[in-house]
Amino acid sequence: MRAVLEQLEIRRAQARMGGGQKRVDAQHAKGKLTARERLVVLLDEGSFEEYDMYVTHRATDFGMDDQKVAGDGVVTGWGTINGRLVYVFSQDFTVLGGSLSETHAQKICKIMDMAVRNGAPVIGLNDSGGARIQEGVASLAGYADVFKRNVDASGVIPQISVIMGPCAGGAVYSPAMTDFIFMVRGSSYMFVTGPDVVKTVTNEIVTAEELGGAATHTQKSSVADGAFENDIEALEEVRRLFDFLPLNNRQKPPVRPFYDDPERIELRLDTLAPESANKPYDMKELILAIADEGDFFELQAAFARNIITGFIRIEGRTVGVVANQPMVLAGCLDIDSSRKAARFVRFCDAFDIPILTLVDVPGFLPGTAQEYGGVIKHGAKLLFAYSQATVPMVTLITRKAYGGAYDVMASKHIGADINYAWPTAEIAVMGAKGAAEILYRSELGDPERLAARTREYEQRFANPFIAAERGFIDEVIMPHSSRKRIARAFAALRGKSVETRWKKHDTIPL
Ligand code: HXC
Repeated sequence: MRAVLEQLEIRRAQARMGGGQKRVDAQHAKGKLTARERLVVLLDEGSFEEYDMYVTHRATDFGMDDQKVAGDGVVTGWGTINGRLVYVFSQDFTVLGGSLSETHAQKICKIMDMAVRNGAPVIGLNDSGGARIQEGVASLAGYADVFKRNVDASGVIPQISVIMGPCAGGAVYSPAMTDFIFMVRGSSYMFVTGPDVVKTVTNEIVTAEELGGAATHTQKSSVADGAFENDIEALEEVRRLFDFLPLNNRQKPPVRPFYDDPERIELRLDTLAPESANKPYDMKELILAIADEGDFFELQAAFARNIITGFIRIEGRTVGVVANQPMVLAGCLDIDSSRKAARFVRFCDAFDIPILTLVDVPGFLPGTAQEYGGVIKHGAKLLFAYSQATVPMVTLITRKAYGGAYDVMASKHIGADINYAWPTAEIAVMGAKGAAEILYRSELGDPERLAARTREYEQRFANPFIAAERGFIDEVIMPHSSRKRIARAFAALRGKSVETRWKKHDTIPL
């Protein structure tokens, strides 16, 4: 072989070694894959095209001239996931702890710019000690360049972050501005200030895991949308999510082949909602019954479990699902569930993903904790998000739709296109007992009379027909035919187009 060709192979091999075998072994010993191994799992076999493999930093302070490693701690380029284009960056912890230098940031910015120009998502695999300490403000500037691009790309291309190691300091803000964040249990953490600083400033003693591990961010803070056992599971699940998403905001999500009859009848749904309005049932059963092949990609499954969000397919096409969960807090809306669902609705609307809303909601959760926490503002986020959405929206009320929560949960009035209800639906200002107690306060001392008043209210309002008489419900459907009716509804809405008034942007109650 000619010498120059050999030279190229040698340089490539050197770059692929990253920070050297010792550091690769240390990475493996922590149960983590290397940056390149991760890309092999994430992308279709042989599809990765690497860019900027020979880039090195230009810093000279602190002996950095002797510490140049080709690639500078991040592997960037593009590949495919099930044949569809995606731009990727994968931080290499074996090179200076994956820390972000000026040139490392430039590599990330380059592929983000290409992704926006070519209309394809960006997936970032984060494993980094943060700003490269030796470079000072140059690395802070690099972060800011990435942040700005995250914002410019928001709503244009899907952006997915996978946290697969440390992610600290201002570095957390790039993932925070992407659409989805996933973590790996036991080996990833995110925080603005680490445990040592926390101890100095607040006297709190906390481990990195408690402060910013996967459990914290999936259950408490809601910063992360999901967590997985190890690198491989995380990357395979990201591939699964990717298949639900369009490449950009001007394309439809992919249509996948499906082997599930859209007219499938599910008799078990006829008895899903218990006779007693106070008994819970699992709304996930309904979601799985409606979905093609029972395939549901749930987001934020461990946070605000009183609302369920995620993606299914109907006739092979992606649908975003928002559903009250009667098993948790009776399906009430509260601060956390409103925020969770609002964010999801806005993602779906930005990327032309139709929304199915399944309603069983007794209202907003009462109490000082909610009011002091600003449930008014947070509840308004969901109301705002639905009211603003122009994608096809189908709503099915299975049981309770009470009070303001009826309006909020994709009612006809705020823009849903087709509103169905099961015969078990109760659409009213509030539950019958509460209503009778307010309307007939003077009869509170007479339980029998009050019970009769409650029954009277129930008979009048605990059904879907008052709403149907006004056209707020388009049809009362049999539970067993839910999949068929919803599939037909979305099929009929495929040509939906809505003109919106020009504005710079809205002023959503953030
Ligand atoms: C340069 C770094 C580095 C950094 C780690 N390394 N972080 N080099 N800049 N920020 C290097 C180490 O020197 C070491 O080099 C190698 O990476 C691995 O690090 P270890 O400490 O040996 O690994 P580990 O024990 O696993 O600990 C990982 C760590 C720790 C928790 C990330 O390294 C750490 O605390 N790093 C500093 C984190 C930090 O404070 N970053 C700045 C955050 S502020 P060798 O040669 O020995 O392999 C920030 C601001 C962003 O990011 C602002 C944006 C607006």
